[in-house]
Amino acid sequence: FTPKRLAGQRVLITAGPTFEAIDPVRGITNRSSGKMGFAIAQAAQRAGAEVTLVAGPVHLPTPAGVRRIDVQSALQMRDAVLAALPGQTLFIATAAVADWRPAVCAEHKIKKDGSGTTPTLAFSENPDILATVAARPDAPYCVGFAAESEKLLEHAQAKRARKGVPLIVANLGPATFGQDDNALLLVDAEGARELPRASKTALAAQLIEEIARRLNARQA
Ligand code: C5P
Repeated sequence: FTPKRLAGQRVLITAGPTFEAIDPVRGITNRSSGKMGFAIAQAAQRAGAEVTLVAGPVHLPTPAGVRRIDVQSALQMRDAVLAALPGQTLFIATAAVADWRPAVCAEHKIKKDGSGTTPTLAFSENPDILATVAARPDAPYCVGFAAESEKLLEHAQAKRARKGVPLIVANLGPATFGQDDNALLLVDAEGARELPRASKTALAAQLIEEIARRLNARQA
C-alpha cells in the first residue's frame, strides 16, 4: 500500500526542449530528451494528482492518465502554461527552454545564393516561464530544475533566489541528456539533500515524495 501523497493536487509540468524556428525547415533547439519530466508526470499521476504535461518536441509516449499539450516554441510553451495555470497547486518546470529565439522567422526557406555569403541571425530573449509563474499572485508551489557544469550548489541557491521559487532540483552531472539514470540535489531554504544515482523512474518517485512533503507542509 502506497499512500496517494498528491491526492487532490493539480500538477502542471513542462518537459522536453523547445524548438525555435529560423525558417520553415530550420530551427535551433536544446538537448533534452524529456525523459525526466515525463517520469515526473507519471510519478505525480500515480501519487494521485491530476497532471497536465506541456511538452516540447520529444519522442516519448504520454504517461497513462496524464493530459498532454504539445508545443514547439518557448512562446507557445509560455502561453500553454498560463492557459492551464488557474487551479493548479504545483508547478514543476523541467523543460530545457531555449533562452533565445531568432528575432524573425523567415517566411520561406533561406536559400544559398552561390556567393558563399552566410546569413546572420539576430535573436530575441525568450520569457522565463518559471519566473513568470512564480511571480504571479496566485502562484502554485513552484519547483525549478538546474543543469550546471560547475559550482552546483552555489548556482542552484542563486537560481532559487533569482526565480523566486522554494525548491530547485539540480542534476548531479555528468551529462544526463537522453540517459535513463540520473542523480539529483534538492536545494531549498533548509539546505541541500542528495538523491543518489538511480533510474529516472525511481528518482521521479522519490522526488514526488519529497515535493509532496513540502507541499503538504505548506498547505497545512
Ligand atoms: O535559468 P535556467 O534556464 O538555468 O533555469 C532553469 C529552470 O528554469 C528550469 O526549471 C527551466 O524549466 C526553467 N526555465 C523556464 N523558462 C525559461 C528558462 C528556464 O521555465 N525561459
